[in-house]
Order: sequence, then structure tokens, then C-alpha cells
Amino acid sequence: MVLRQPQSILVTGGAGFIGSNYLNKMVPAYPDTLFVNLDALTYAGNLENLAQVCDRSNYVFERGDITDFELVAGLFDKYGFDAVVHFAAESHVDRSIIDPTAFVKTNVQGTLVLLQNAKAAWKEGEGLFHHVSTDEVFGSLGSKGVFTLESPYAPRSPYAASKASADHLVRSFGTTYGLPYVITNTSNNFGPYQFPEKLIPLVLNNARTRKPIPIYGKGENVRDWLYVEDHCEALEKVLLQGQDGHTYLIGGSEEWSNVDLVEALLDVFDAITGQAKGRSGELITFVQDRAGHDFRYAIDSSVTQKELQWRPKHSLKEGLVKTVTWYLEHTDWLSNILNESYRSYYQSQYGDR
Ligand code: NAD
Ligand code: DAU
Repeated sequence: MVLRQPQSILVTGGAGFIGSNYLNKMVPAYPDTLFVNLDALTYAGNLENLAQVCDRSNYVFERGDITDFELVAGLFDKYGFDAVVHFAAESHVDRSIIDPTAFVKTNVQGTLVLLQNAKAAWKEGEGLFHHVSTDEVFGSLGSKGVFTLESPYAPRSPYAASKASADHLVRSFGTTYGLPYVITNTSNNFGPYQFPEKLIPLVLNNARTRKPIPIYGKGENVRDWLYVEDHCEALEKVLLQGQDGHTYLIGGSEEWSNVDLVEALLDVFDAITGQAKGRSGELITFVQDRAGHDFRYAIDSSVTQKELQWRPKHSLKEGLVKTVTWYLEHTDWLSNILNESYRSYYQSQYGDR
């Protein structure tokens, strides 16, 4: 059942991976709703991701930082938002291990600034604050069990700790000030426009350029993979139908160890590029493990599936075929995003991977 139809939505971080997939879906689907994309365009943000929607009359881009209180207040005044969909974050675990500072600033302080402005702009009970969060707030599983709505918070990386803090702040604004909110905690996404520091696009880019493919430790760590279009479909349902104060767990029910995932991905890559099966597997190199590497994530989406009548449409294999095809058709996008400043940063941290 549709509970609300926002007219003016502040989307933060819309030039990143999931945010741009979301806007590319939502802007054409809701021509009478205004979508204002507030993005600082960090290394992870790229306006090329939004080429399909940038000329639409119900889309506006505002460059700025979510930690800038006056800027955010000005946008609330200018556009009269009745919903916030909050994607903006520092999102890469390895970077948070090297330096957590930006993670606390953007993910914690930035979320607070948005909440304070929503509270100031909306009468009690008005509006909706949709916080897009991660399953990493629940920590690391052993070989059995799944994250559920009852799972305690147990973040283990600085990234996960910053997202957990943001989740707590959102809930505290709900209970203390009556700010309407929903939180979504989601598993690993993959698909078009994902920055090639994350496992799947990194593997594809290295396979394409015949560079070593780094797998941390023994490659036994397990992740639950969700194709980004399926995630965005769930987010759309949460925006329209999500109940105030509810948390929605979203996953793909596709648990794969890293080594099995990379081999499956390279099989798809070799098949599509007309190479012998196993050729790109020769590039796999086992490297030093990530510090504090969470062993396994798995999430029980059954409550979300039932309440919102949603389920992922893509199996992992179907998603991989679409993803490999997309990256091979967008090699210019890859080259542009891997610009010089990023490359020199990356090399200084990780060497020539
Ligand atoms: P991303 O790193 O690809 O994009 C982040 C975007 O936020 C970029 O466009 C960046 O420019 C912008 N941004 C960063 N700091 C900002 C600031 N201070 N002010 C304004 N904009 C800023 O991230 P993503 O993978 O698309 O993730 C989006 C959200 O989803 C994040 O909150 C992340 O925690 C969450 N999430 C991601 C995954 C995943 O697998 N990628 C899974 C679950 C949840
Ligand atoms: O679970 C949701 C989370 O998924 C999101 O909240 C994060 O924003 C997103 O980055 C992702 O976190 P992960 O750390 O799981 O994703 P990443 O792609 O960095 O790594 C996936 C797995 O692959 C993880 O076990 C580490 C491993 N890995 C990663 C890289 C980059 C490698 O073995 N080699 C690599 O080079």
C-alpha cells in the first residue's frame, strides 16, 4: 500500500554508484516529483553517471558538502523538501582503515546536519528521512547464521562504525523528536557505475588490462551479492510504502566466497570476450589480508520481501553477465573515472595492483 508520494526529494550522494542508479530509475518514473541531488563530487562521485537524467526538468544538481549546515539549510528553504534519501557517504572499507577521519566527518557529522535541518524544516510527524545503510553495522558472522532485525550492532571497521553511528542518530531523532524515518541495511551491491576500487569492478578492470587480480587472504570470506537495480527497486518501495520507524533488511540471498565469486566473474568475462575458460583466472594473486576482515555477511530479507512485496529479480550469474557487458561497453567511463589524481592516490596506498 502506498503511504506517501513525496513531491520534492533531497537525494544526497546521487553522483555515486547506488545514488546514480537510483536517480536514473526514479527521475523518469516520477516526472511530477522534483529530485535535488546534493553531492560533493569526491573521487567517488561522477556526473557522467547521470547523463540519462541531467536534462530532465524534474532533476537538479547542487554541488556541496552535506556537512555544510548553512548550505543544507538553504536547500531546504529553496526546494521545500518533503523527503530525504540519504546515500552520501565515504563507502570503502579499505580507505577507512587507512584514515577514518573523512568517514566520521561525512557519515556521522554529515548525517547529523541533514537530520537537524529536516527537524527544523518539518513539523513533527511530517516528511520522511530515508537513511541508506549497510549490513556491515551487524559485524561479522561465522560460517552459520544470518543478520536479522534482532541482530545486535557490532561494527568492526571504522567505516562500519561510522555507519552504525549514523543509524543510531537517525533512530534517536525518531524517538526524541518524532522525525519520521526509515532505515535500509543492505548487502554488497554490484552493477553499472561502481567505482573500480570495489571488488567486482576492480577485478573486471584488471582482467581487461591484464593486471594481477588481488584476493585478500585465502579468499574464503563470504559476501551476499545484490544487483544494484534490484536494490533500487527495494529502495523505491521503501520510500513509498515503508512504515515510519521501520528498518528494512535487503539482500540478494547470493552468498559467495570471494575466490568463488572472482572465478565465476572471470568465467563470464572470458566467455564474453571470447577467451579460453580459465585464461583470466591466471591473473588471480593472493595478497595480504584486510585488517580485521569481516569473515561473512548474510542477511535475512524475508520480512522486507513480505511487507513490501519485493524480491531480487537477478540471480548473481544474471547480474554478472549484465555487469561485465556494461563495463566492456563503458571503457571510456572507466578510464575517465580512474583519473590521474585517483591513480596516484591509489598507487601510494596499494602499489601497482
Ligand atoms: P559511493 O562511494 O559510490 O558514492 C558516494 C557518493 O557520496 C559520491 O557521489 C560522493 O561524491 C558523495 N559524497 C561523499 N561525501 C560527501 C559529502 N561530504 N557531501 C556530499 N556528497 C558526498 O557509495 P555507494 O557505494 O553508492 O554507497 C551509497 C550508500 O549506500 C552509502 O551510504 C553506503 O554506505 C551505502 N551502502 C553501499 C553498499 C554497496 O555495496 N556499495 C551496500 C550497502 C549500503
Ligand atoms: O556489505 C555492504 C558493504 O559492501 C557496503 O556497505 C560497502 O560500502 C561496500 O564497499 C561493500 O563492502 P566490502 O568491504 O564487502 O566490499 P569490497 O568490494 O571492498 O570487498 C568485497 C570483498 O572482497 C571483501 O571480503 C574484501 C575482498 N576484496 C576486496 C578488494 C577491493 C579482495 O579480496 N580484494 C580486493 O582487491
